[in-house]
Amino acid sequence: MKNIYSNIYKSNLHNLKKAKKILENDKIIGIPTETVYGLAGNAYSNKAVKKIYYLKKRPAINPIIIHYYNLKILKNDVIINNNFLKLYKAFCPGPITFILNKKTSSKVTFEATAKKKTIAVRFPKHKVARKLLSILKLPLAAPSANLSSRLSPTSSTDVADEFKNKIKFILEGGRSKVGLESTIVDLTGHVKVLRPGSITPKSIGKILKKKIKIIKKAKKITSPGQLKKHYYPGIPVIINMRKPKKNEAVVGFGKRFKRRKNYFNLSGNGNLKEAANNLYKTLRKIKNKGYKSIIVNKIPSVGIGMAINDRLKRASSK
Ligand code: TXA
Ligand code: MG
Repeated sequence: MKNIYSNIYKSNLHNLKKAKKILENDKIIGIPTETVYGLAGNAYSNKAVKKIYYLKKRPAINPIIIHYYNLKILKNDVIINNNFLKLYKAFCPGPITFILNKKTSSKVTFEATAKKKTIAVRFPKHKVARKLLSILKLPLAAPSANLSSRLSPTSSTDVADEFKNKIKFILEGGRSKVGLESTIVDLTGHVKVLRPGSITPKSIGKILKKKIKIIKKAKKITSPGQLKKHYYPGIPVIINMRKPKKNEAVVGFGKRFKRRKNYFNLSGNGNLKEAANNLYKTLRKIKNKGYKSIIVNKIPSVGIGMAINDRLKRASSK
């Protein structure tokens, strides 16, 4: 099939070098990661970071995750602690983001961290993101490549559809393997998970040898991914087991889920990883088919199921 998107580029070395040039010139590109696609810019550049907020229509109070290749450059920007080193060794590169204290000498812009004294840092595993970071020698500020409060993109065409020609360059990286945003874990004090993801509190607890909690309702919003209204697909999402009305689609999971035209199964054989991977794609598809609302049947809240339910709850909140 011919590529109808003129702003999506194959991730060969030539184009990776092109991407590097664009980023060094403080411009923004779309990049693949194993979780979701990101909207990336030089984390040390005010101009680049401002552009990201502008493109996403992101509130300035919502800080951005900074992506690194390894610890070398990171050490200039954050204060490293033992819990971080243990988790880094166990899970990185991979779908986990750490909140750490920012060094006063850090060059990461104040806008990127929304004037906080902390930084969210992540080491993506996707080979295109890694190759790019390795030749760049700069960290990348990269929120998910969607308009603020909407669904995250899991393919290059999702990014192109969301921003049209406002983004001139998107690196192709196939479908994102995980399909849900990274787990965010706060390591600045008592260790806690701020956003559930594919790396579970249990597996983090195993490494740190303590019980780790998910912060469900933040008293003070420390991570606007915690904001109630988020991950909205553009039509109402209702968590319920009731029968669908006209123009309503149903999303469910597992072998016993009905087979009908307006029933969308996240995983026919009840695999939670597969369900996570299909979630955003399915919600987008339903919206594009013209349904007016979506009924979601509950997903088992174990492992990555917790992250799926977290996103569904926020998608359904009014
Ligand atoms: O999987 C991911 O994490 C993707 C890919 C592109 O890496 N990125 C992503 O970024 O999901 P974004 O901006 O959509 O979500 C970042 C979340 C936001 O909820 C933000 O509030 C939180 O991270 N965050 C960033 N810096 C923070 C900080 N210093 N303290 C607490 N939360 C922070
Ligand atoms: Mg996001």
